[in-house]
Amino acid sequence: KNTSLRMQSIVFIGFMGVGKTTIGQKVARKLYRDFIDIDQEIEKEFNMPTTEIFKKFGEKAFREKEKSVIESLSQQQLKIISVGGGAFLQEDIRNICLSNCIVFYLDLSWEYWKERIGLLIDSRPVLQSRSLEEIEELFYTRQEIYSYHHSKVNTNDLDVDEVADFIVDSLK
Ligand code: S3P
Repeated sequence: KNTSLRMQSIVFIGFMGVGKTTIGQKVARKLYRDFIDIDQEIEKEFNMPTTEIFKKFGEKAFREKEKSVIESLSQQQLKIISVGGGAFLQEDIRNICLSNCIVFYLDLSWEYWKERIGLLIDSRPVLQSRSLEEIEELFYTRQEIYSYHHSKVNTNDLDVDEVADFIVDSLK
């Protein structure tokens, strides 16, 4: 495949709650592109929220659907795609995203991230089953899978609009 850089879809990765969806939507608006949220696509397929999917069918079923949804959608061009924080655990997903798309890592430090936990816990089954210490450990182990990216932006001291502007500028 010889897709020009300008045509490539952009994929946002990073830990839960770093702003992949919010920032993705803003970047999509600025670039006049369609935005796709993979978690929402999975929820549409199961017709229930992620927490219910985990309860009824288990994480494995969620991960299988995550892979098939990403495999089909990341082949499309000119999209802005946000994938769940666990998607890059799967080597197949990493490979397909890295070879077809521009992968942007949204980085945030633990000290900043932990302030957001209350907003996230109700909708994130992966957090519900863990203590704060275990979440911190997960946070640091996950850094490994996010090292597979093309570009990275640290969002500690930027608001979502500043991050979106930075990303759009960096694509010029
Ligand atoms: C998950 C992250 C979630 C969602 C699911 C599992 C994870 O996506 O895919 O709850 O394992 O990190 P967000 O990163 O959009 O919260």
